[in-house]
Amino acid sequence: MKDLSPRPSDLDAFETMDPADLQALQLQRLKDTLVHAYANVPTYRAKFDAAGVTPDDLTSLADLARFPFTMKNDLRAAYPFDMFAVPRDQIARIHASSGTTGKPTVVGYTAEDIDIWAEVVARSLRAAGVRAGDIVHNAYGYGLFTGGLGAHYGIEKLGATVIPMSGGQTARQVQLIEDFQPKAIMVTPSYMLNILEEYVRQGLDPKACPLDVGIFGAEPWTPAMRAEIEAAFDMHAVDIYGLSEVIGPGVAQECVETKDGLHIWEDHFYPEIIDPETGEVLPDGSPGELVFTTLTKRGMPVIRYRTRDLTRLMPGTARAMRRMEKVTGRSDDMIILRGVNVFPTQVEEQVLAVEGLAPYFQIELVREGQLDAMRVHVECLPGVGADAPKAALARGIKQMIGVSCDVVVAPEGGVERSQGKARRVVDNRGA
Ligand code: DLL
Repeated sequence: MKDLSPRPSDLDAFETMDPADLQALQLQRLKDTLVHAYANVPTYRAKFDAAGVTPDDLTSLADLARFPFTMKNDLRAAYPFDMFAVPRDQIARIHASSGTTGKPTVVGYTAEDIDIWAEVVARSLRAAGVRAGDIVHNAYGYGLFTGGLGAHYGIEKLGATVIPMSGGQTARQVQLIEDFQPKAIMVTPSYMLNILEEYVRQGLDPKACPLDVGIFGAEPWTPAMRAEIEAAFDMHAVDIYGLSEVIGPGVAQECVETKDGLHIWEDHFYPEIIDPETGEVLPDGSPGELVFTTLTKRGMPVIRYRTRDLTRLMPGTARAMRRMEKVTGRSDDMIILRGVNVFPTQVEEQVLAVEGLAPYFQIELVREGQLDAMRVHVECLPGVGADAPKAALARGIKQMIGVSCDVVVAPEGGVERSQGKARRVVDNRGA
């Protein structure tokens, strides 16, 4: 793999800012954001009033804990435009979540917000080892999803060349990677596995591909998946995090020279970790739910937005700003099986550890009598008998996660392939 480490001169002034100066900047920006939200968004005014706080009550960063949380339901209740803090005609762009359950969540950006977003994505790309002039293949979906356009404008902002491929058409993805010779790819890690499969199907050597780095996010993925992709393509694999409610991709990014968790771009997004049960703010280092307050967004500021993502905060390393550990999963995706908490990422780790298994899997939840049961659908590599991998996976899951499950070995191509964000869990308990 190529050395993609940055030179000190590659970093911007905020990335190298002294922590005390950063905190002063955060406090100022936080105050401005609270004032702006309170004055212009009825939802925030009502919530602050109900909690008995006004923006004047913030005199230190720790005071933020006195302010109420914002949840996805608050955004749904304000559908479509009531969370906007500027007149509608100042909103330059709208994105929305897929909204598989109920109404979609709508987010709006001013032209200035879009510029800041491009800035944080450009910074993320630099941290991943991409430079002006490089070609970047963007396979995040374009449209209402923030992945495609969010990455797109960041690539342009950096001065790199964007290939706006979007998702799908896997054979074409491979052809264009081979023909255009991009240095970097931006895509979900699960879809990168489809691209890998397509390389093999076309008789091409993925190790000989032009890519030096992949910037993978939009879904949880494990260090085992990193190892799988890095070995298959002989490229770096780094993590990018974000969510539409906060801005989109580019809230936090892993540095290619350290790969030790994701630096949060804290000059724009203020993180807290809370106990998901009590809402209490936990000290850095404790695992819990990630909460974000935007510091510079004008179109739709969010105050203490509960992401449902589980992680912990760690001190800075390659950059001064704090890191978040790779996300284990969303509290919504946690499976409780006979009292044991199971995350799909834990299953991913076990699948990737078994020799002879292909890297695809899907978890099916079923009802057996009065009890919930878990089936894990997998595939074997071509020419490998099913018995040994099947037994090894059931054993691994039992030993490492602590639950019994059925392993179902599907024929080649029998496990659903990801088209973007992978569907890791299928719940057939009602069926
Ligand atoms: O997924 C934004 C994005 C696009 C991030 C492209 C990175 C790359 P949403 O569709 O709003 O936005 O989904 C946000 O996806 O709360 C997490 O649960 C999950 N997620 C995003 N990035 C990561 C990651 C985009 N690196 C939700 N690791 C978030 C784990 C992630 N989960």
